[in-house]
Amino acid sequence: MKIITVVGARPQFIKASALSREIRKHAGIDEVIVHTGQHYDINMSEVFFRELDIPAPHYNLEVGSESHGKQTGLMMERIEKVLLKEKPAWVIVLGDTNSTIAGALAATKLNIKVAHVEAGLRSYNRAMPEEINRIATDHIADLLFVPTRNAMNILAQEGLKKRSVLTGDIMYDTLKYYENLLNKDSGNAFYKAEKPYYLATIHRQENTDNPVRLKNIFKAFSLITGNIVLPLHPRTKKYLKTLPVSNNVNIIEPTGYLNLLHLLKNCEKVLTDSGGLQKEAFFLKKPCITLREETEWIETLEDGWNHVVGDNITLILEKIRLKVPEKQEQFFGDGHAATAIVEGLLKYST
Ligand code: UD1
Repeated sequence: MKIITVVGARPQFIKASALSREIRKHAGIDEVIVHTGQHYDINMSEVFFRELDIPAPHYNLEVGSESHGKQTGLMMERIEKVLLKEKPAWVIVLGDTNSTIAGALAATKLNIKVAHVEAGLRSYNRAMPEEINRIATDHIADLLFVPTRNAMNILAQEGLKKRSVLTGDIMYDTLKYYENLLNKDSGNAFYKAEKPYYLATIHRQENTDNPVRLKNIFKAFSLITGNIVLPLHPRTKKYLKTLPVSNNVNIIEPTGYLNLLHLLKNCEKVLTDSGGLQKEAFFLKKPCITLREETEWIETLEDGWNHVVGDNITLILEKIRLKVPEKQEQFFGDGHAATAIVEGLLKYST
C-alpha cells in the first residue's frame, strides 16, 4: 500500500518523525514524503529531518512564504501533480497548517482517501488561520486520528464520530523517544543558558501582527526577574526590529528539536503562543503561561499546569510567580499513538 505524507512546517516534522518510524516497521507500506516547502530555512526545516531521522522528502514543492491564499493554492496545484503521478491509497496530513489543508483538499478532490492526524482540536477562534485549517480538514478527511477524549467529544458533536479513532498524542511519541536519547552523548552542542531561566517562544500571527500585543508581551518580559531564552521564529524577527527588548531576554536562532527539548527540560517555566510547546511543557512537567486568548489543549489547564493569559502584563507576572503544581493526570495516551495510527490505516484500507 502506498501512502503519501504531506509535511511543510516545523510541528509536522515532529509528528511525521514518529509516524514514519512506525511505518518503516511495515514492509507492506510504502511511504512517500512530500514537503510543501512552507518552512525552508535550514533551522526551520532541514535540521528536523536530520535530527528526527525522517527520510529525505521524495518531493520538495518549494512553495515558500506567500499570502495565505497564494501559499495554499500553490501547494494544492503542486500536490495534485504528485498525487496524479504516485496514485497513493492514502494521503496523510498532520496538524493545522496551510500544508495540512492543501494536502487534504488536493487529495479529496481526486477521490484519494485522506487521514488527518491530530484531528478534533478547536480554539473556537475563527480569526486564527489554523482554526479554519483544522475545521475544514476534519470535515473533508475520511479518517480522523484523535489525540484526546476531549477532541473525540468535539468530533462527535460535529457529527464525525464514525470516522474518528482515539490514538493518543503523536507528539508524545516523539518526545518520549528523544527524551531517552537526550541523556546519552548525542554529539549535539546544546545552547547553554544561564540558569535559572524561562523558555519563551512567540510566532502566532495574532501576536506578531499586532504591535500592541507584541509590545505588551515584551513589556511583561522586561518586568520578569530572571533570564528568558527566546528562540526567535523568523516571522517574529521581522516585527521586533522596532521594539525595545530588555537585557534579560536572550534572543537565539530558532532551534532544532533536540536543543529545544534540552532547553525545556532545564527551564523553570514556559511562556509561549505555540500549540505544541504547551503540550511538550505539560509532558515534561513544566508550568506554562500561554500568551493567547484561548487554547485548544484544554487538558493542560487542569491542576494549573497551563494558564491562558493573552498579553495581559499583570496576569503574566502573577502566573510566573506561582508554585509548580504537584499532581498531573495523563490525558495524552501512552506514547504509542503512531502504532494506533498505522493499525487504523491498515484496518480502514480493507
Ligand atoms: C506556521 C503555521 C502554524 C505553526 C507554525 C510553526 C500556518 C497558517 N501556520 O506558522 O500553525 O504553528 O508554522 O512554526 O500554516 N519564514 C522564514 N523561514 C521559514 C519559514 C517562515 O523566514 O523557514 C517566515 C516567512 O517570512 C513567513 C513567516 O515566517 O512570512 C511565516 O511563515 P508561515 O509558514 O506562513 O507561518 P508560520 O508563522 O511559520
